[in-house]
Amino acid sequence: MKVKTSAPGKLMLFGEHAVVYGYPCIVTTVESRIYVEIEKSEQFKIDAPQVKDLRFVEKTIELFCDKYKVDNKLLIKTYSDFSSQYGFGSSSAVTVATIRALSDFYKIEMSKKEIFDLGYKVVLYIQGVGSGFDIAAATYGGTIYFVTGGKVIEPLSVKNLSLVIGYSGVKADTASIVKNLESRIHNSESKYTKIFENIKKIVEQAKVSLINSDWKKIGELMNQNHKFLQELGVSTDKLDKMCQAVVDAGAFGAKLSGAGGGDCMISLVPENKIKKVESSIIKAGGEILNVKTNI
Ligand code: MEV
Repeated sequence: MKVKTSAPGKLMLFGEHAVVYGYPCIVTTVESRIYVEIEKSEQFKIDAPQVKDLRFVEKTIELFCDKYKVDNKLLIKTYSDFSSQYGFGSSSAVTVATIRALSDFYKIEMSKKEIFDLGYKVVLYIQGVGSGFDIAAATYGGTIYFVTGGKVIEPLSVKNLSLVIGYSGVKADTASIVKNLESRIHNSESKYTKIFENIKKIVEQAKVSLINSDWKKIGELMNQNHKFLQELGVSTDKLDKMCQAVVDAGAFGAKLSGAGGGDCMISLVPENKIKKVESSIIKAGGEILNVKTNI
């Protein structure tokens, strides 16, 4: 018997970094997915050329097989429609897809919360840090309001989110950016608490505005969120330049998305400004990533 499952990548809409410290964020999924295929084998073997860190697959299998007392003599193959380079969360997607494949293969029913809890354990084991928002996105899909560690996971009904996504050309290392910020927070806690409280206010307003499709307001909130990310010291000149360029070209608003230090920026754009905004990203030295969101 062979089973095949999948899980989507993600894009952070609001609240990155603050969500590591107990605050909420809003994340949406992208259409790009990672697929995992499992079949019985003589021995444990992983064939996953696109996975940049195989430990996510290995640890998932170890924890699952320990928890449910099942055999790990399996052949695990992965396929991917996206590059791990863009910061779309390929590690969390492969983790969730592997859990789903194992639960299908062994016919062990798992709730979404159980999938999330196991996946989050894997991430913490390997990265040491992280809020778990990416595991929640891969598990639940669509757009979700999320609080650290899965304290709240609330699907939001969001329609027609017209995002233009720009890649900065630089691959960011999330874990080291999060750890670097952690050490800076240590020396100046009240300054950072103030920034996180402000980001929280933005996330709460964005939640309402997203449900109401209030694009103008969402754009303003994106710009404000980006300013606070600059204050956290996680943006880069390139990301700032791309965000400014799209706003000048008629976007409702823009911000970096994810840990910062590179990866992507996102902008919310009126239909009739998409072409102009895309050219402005290219002029600023970025690359357009054509992926649908909120899947
Ligand atoms: C990284 O994409 C988002 C962070 O908030 C880290 C996390 O929540 O795990 C910086």
